[in-house]
Amino acid sequence: MKITLSVIKADVGSVGGHETPSKELVIAIENHVKTEGKRLLIDYKIFHTGDDTAILMTHTQGVDSQDIHKLAWDAFVAGTAVAKEQGLYGAGQDLLKDAFSGNVRGMGPGSCEMEFEERPAEPFILFAADKTDPGAFNYPLYRGFADPFHNAGLLLSSDIAKGFEFTVMDVNYTEGDRIIKLNVPEEAYDLAVLLRDPEHYVIESIKSRDTGEQAAAVSTSRLHNIAGKYTGKDDPVALVRSQKQFPSTGEILSPYATAHYVVGDNRGSHVVALMPCKLGAMISFFDGPAIVTAAGICVHNGKFTEAIDLFEQPFWDMIRMKASEKTYAIREQGFFGAAMAPMEELEYTGVVERIAQLDKKFSLRKKS
Ligand code: F6R
Ligand code: MG
Ligand code: MG
Repeated sequence: MKITLSVIKADVGSVGGHETPSKELVIAIENHVKTEGKRLLIDYKIFHTGDDTAILMTHTQGVDSQDIHKLAWDAFVAGTAVAKEQGLYGAGQDLLKDAFSGNVRGMGPGSCEMEFEERPAEPFILFAADKTDPGAFNYPLYRGFADPFHNAGLLLSSDIAKGFEFTVMDVNYTEGDRIIKLNVPEEAYDLAVLLRDPEHYVIESIKSRDTGEQAAAVSTSRLHNIAGKYTGKDDPVALVRSQKQFPSTGEILSPYATAHYVVGDNRGSHVVALMPCKLGAMISFFDGPAIVTAAGICVHNGKFTEAIDLFEQPFWDMIRMKASEKTYAIREQGFFGAAMAPMEELEYTGVVERIAQLDKKFSLRKKS
């Protein structure tokens, strides 16, 4: 059966700052999807990570369906109403437009979707990250799909030995979707030079070169490019199919053990180690640290199994400690040098404005 897997997520308000949505807010979103999605959806699940709520859906409307996107938009509007009633912080934060028009892309919420013919067993992972941007997935996707240190299947299994095709988007280009397709292993170094700049070039999708089937999709919106001003980090979601012609679930998870440094955290402007967390994890230290959750699910005839919490298992406790140590190591240096994001990534304008003022006071010393 051909199905579409869609995930649409937004921050429409949270308790105690930018930490986590209230239970009532999540219930309001779920109730809307449950009642209004009856005709449209085969199945749905609601997740929350940090201050973002994600609606995962299966249907047969294809990607970019206006009806599906409107359903999610209206669910977030319902969540916003509850956020306002409760006085939650940042109510309606990610709903940047007054009225829905066609597609949530460019309107604030993040989304990623895949349409595919279901395999007899169809395992996949829903990743959701908070307090960072979509480039956070560059490192783990590159290593999970292109590096035999994590993906032993590239050496051991003929199913995936042909490698993968990566589609990368230039997210600084705002006139349209500027993309490039690169094949690994042949173009692995070309891919690497782009992916090393995750604030500029972001993996949008990955395909199996053996079967042509799509393996992964990432939400690639850049909120501050859309809004023209700071509105929070993009807090991305990604869908990754696993096993057989794709990397195994464990191979896809393996690179997250690095707890790699990403941009985000407090005021979207710091460098922080990405911490793999349990489903529903909240935000705390320094408005961070940036977190990522992973739900493992199988889908059959469009119906979901229960979701398992892939970062719940004890191995990840050690990685959480490591992520805390890496984050604290860089936090000790405050805003100096590599600890704060580069100038063009600063999400608040204070530094830039102050430098502009100081610039007028600079003078050239006369040569004696
Ligand atoms: C970062 C984030 C927080 C806020 C910070 C200030 O993505 O959400 O670090 O930037 O808490 O928030 P405001 O400006 O809303 O007071
Ligand atoms: Mg927020
Ligand atoms: Mg968020």
